[in-house]
Amino acid sequence: MKAVAIKAYGDINNLHEIELGVPELAEDEVLVENYATSVNPIDWKARLGYLKEAYSWEFPVILGWDTAGVITQVGAKVTNFKIGDKVFARPDIYADGKRGTYAQYVAVKEDKLALKPDEITFEEAAAVPLAGLTALQVVVDRLHVKKGDKVLIQGGAGGVGLFAIQIAKHLGAYVAATASKKNHEFLKSLGADEVIDYHEAKIGTVLSNYDAVFDTVNAIDDGLAILKENGRLVTIAGKPSVEQKASSKEVSGWRMQPNGKQLKELGDWIVAGEVKVVIDSVYPLTTAGLRAAHKKSQSGHARGKLVIKVK
Ligand SMILES: NC(=O)c1ccc[n+]([C@@H]2O[C@H](COP(=O)([O-])OP(=O)(O)OC[C@H]3O[C@@H](n4cnc5c(N)ncnc54)[C@H](OP(=O)(O)O)[C@@H]3O)[C@@H](O)[C@H]2O)c1
Repeated sequence: MKAVAIKAYGDINNLHEIELGVPELAEDEVLVENYATSVNPIDWKARLGYLKEAYSWEFPVILGWDTAGVITQVGAKVTNFKIGDKVFARPDIYADGKRGTYAQYVAVKEDKLALKPDEITFEEAAAVPLAGLTALQVVVDRLHVKKGDKVLIQGGAGGVGLFAIQIAKHLGAYVAATASKKNHEFLKSLGADEVIDYHEAKIGTVLSNYDAVFDTVNAIDDGLAILKENGRLVTIAGKPSVEQKASSKEVSGWRMQPNGKQLKELGDWIVAGEVKVVIDSVYPLTTAGLRAAHKKSQSGHARGKLVIKVK
């Protein structure tokens, strides 16, 4: 099968098309013919070697952790999915470094899968798992956002931030977000009540007494400054310091967990029109396509998701 892999850690020129065998299935896995995947910031961070400590991958390493496609094989212990099902998932990260989703076939554990809603395309579905699950898990499970809460999403125009704004609105919150000026009207069209240009204003001079802050840009002190006593901040981009943790406000980090049930819930919200999938741009599964997508992601100014069309 065709895949795009890194042959060494470093800049985008290390991304290359390669040929390798289709993944062998474990009993609890299905094989997905991959129609689309997406690029997340973890991909270029991994390319640069930031995950070296966590995974001792051998090159070539296939990156990518979103898939949408059609099941072509099922393992012996798979009970809830069958050949021909259209699915989407955030697969696990495997120790061999050969199981990323920049590839024509992807092996996925059954419990990470959800059926792709017929109402959305494979490209839209591939834009959802990693970013959407992160947003859902932080806004719902960690920040416990409820009707009437005042919530700030730092980094509202990003892949995660756009899902977070819409999920918080769906739960009935008053939602503020930070973004560059060019994105303000767009964020308001998706439900943000107030958008602050982080280039021009410190949010502490504009907002106060907030119940919850979702930090996707590593600006923990800025977030803490607007929280009320006992308010909660969750960061996915920074590491809270000892001083920040000692604050009277609740500060924690979060790492997303792949989860098929929650992905189905997100799919239901998308079908109901509560959450829209925002795609910045679509690239082909080629050396040039992945290099361009990584460049855009690393710029830090994608608006929504960067999708790779595989089939
Ligand atoms: N811990 C986890 O499990 C987990 C999961 C997913 C993502 N992450 C991390 O979370 C971060 C965000 O992910 P993502 O996919 O949303 O990234 P992304 O799509 O690349 O985010 C790009 C957006 O960030 C905004 N931005 C950049 N600097 C900003 C700032 N100082 N203040 C406000 N907005 C700013 C830009 O908005 P403008 O163009 O409007 O400036 C742009 O729209 C990344 O570091 C990623 O690695 C962690």
